[in-house]
Amino acid sequence: MATKTDQNPAASSGQPAPGNTKPWGGVFDGDTAPLVEKFSESVSYDCRLYTQDVRGSIAHARMLASTGVLTDGEAEQIVAGLEDIQREIAAGTFLFRQDLEDVHMNIERALVERIGDVGRKLHTGRSRNDQVSTDFRLWIREGIDRAERLLGDLQRAFVGRCEADASVILPGYTHLQRAQPVLANHYWLAYCEKFQRDRDRLADCRRRVNQLPLGTAALAGTTMDIDRQHVADALEFEGLVANSLDSSSDRDFAIEYAFALTLVAEHLSTLAEEWILWSTVEFNFIKLPQAYCTGSSIMPQKINPDVMELIRGKTARVVGNLQSLLVLIKGLPLAYNRDLQEDKQRVFDSADTVEACLQLASEVVAGAELQVENINARLERGYLDATTLMEHLIKLGVPQRTAHEIIGNLVATAMKQDVPLAELTLEEFQAAHASLDESVYQVLGVKQAIAAFKSVGSTAPERVAEQVTLWRKRLKT
Ligand code: ARG
Repeated sequence: MATKTDQNPAASSGQPAPGNTKPWGGVFDGDTAPLVEKFSESVSYDCRLYTQDVRGSIAHARMLASTGVLTDGEAEQIVAGLEDIQREIAAGTFLFRQDLEDVHMNIERALVERIGDVGRKLHTGRSRNDQVSTDFRLWIREGIDRAERLLGDLQRAFVGRCEADASVILPGYTHLQRAQPVLANHYWLAYCEKFQRDRDRLADCRRRVNQLPLGTAALAGTTMDIDRQHVADALEFEGLVANSLDSSSDRDFAIEYAFALTLVAEHLSTLAEEWILWSTVEFNFIKLPQAYCTGSSIMPQKINPDVMELIRGKTARVVGNLQSLLVLIKGLPLAYNRDLQEDKQRVFDSADTVEACLQLASEVVAGAELQVENINARLERGYLDATTLMEHLIKLGVPQRTAHEIIGNLVATAMKQDVPLAELTLEEFQAAHASLDESVYQVLGVKQAIAAFKSVGSTAPERVAEQVTLWRKRLKT
């Protein structure tokens, strides 16, 4: 087995270690087992944090110069070296080494190779624990902003339909049974509301993501002369994490982000499921744009809603990622534990998945065509106006429970004849309840039923029109 002196003859003379030893190698007297290097590396995925790592290190170096720990010249040498490395990584010519474990040690080692001893001063007053957290928070902050933009695009796709679909009435369902009529625009705005809550959740989560952990060092802070506010300003963090022990162990910010993304995925999955159903021959409510469907290799007639199915399917992995993260931190003692390295892939995957789904959903929503003729042809089926008629009877002074039963009986009569309520005779209505007169015909039928709605938040045409205007203003469309 190689000893420290074998592999690092300079160590005892206080000289920098040669390139093949770990930055933490001083206390070790031998090499890491190759299997351990492979098992414990994170660089294969945390290399995605390289711009955030360089940015964080530049801010840290300049701060160290501001407090006199580094000279201005040293800091600028470090900055130039880091910028050089960033360019190389962006160009794809940088070689990440697995034996250097993660993106942070790879960049630091490359810096030392480039600028020599000055590079060995960069890690003063910090640890990888606060470095990882800083980089990850910077990355998630950008992820939140991307998701926010994509959610806005999707809302705009829904609102963009409102002009053309303004007069369309859809059957509204509960238990997937026909319930009451709703305007198509009411439906589109229902999704706008869901995705708005997602945006609000992301914005709220961003406030907690946007706290600077750097300065926590490993877990207890540092004795070095650092100025955390200086770094926070440079990196545009809103505040400083207050407790180093908390910060070293904290992944709440990542989990909150993953949760906010999970609800986005759930909302997309609801839409996907609904539109898959709507595009069947049985429903035939919507035609999905063909560019977002695929065919079958055996059945020539098939036009399958694969994109919507995959949006629904991919929600499973987003939920799984959240669950992994929650289980990951369960029972971890303070402060940093290596388990936490397992957070990145889960978060990256949720972000990648949800962003792709959002992008596709926007395009499908913009391109789908309501099959209005077919919808209208069956709109008077299913007694969508029964509740409106019941409320009409209540307004004539009948208690709700009584009115419910009377209209229930009328629906049963209509069902037996296989006709809509509007086709029952005045005699039949009057037999059901004496106070029912010709005015019933003014509330029956889905068009009149829609017009009868009043309450705030309802599908009443004036209410919906107000909401459309509000959303257009809010989304600046
Ligand atoms: N690769 C590690 C991670 O991503 C870096 C932090 C390591 N810290 C430590 N004390 N070993 O979590």
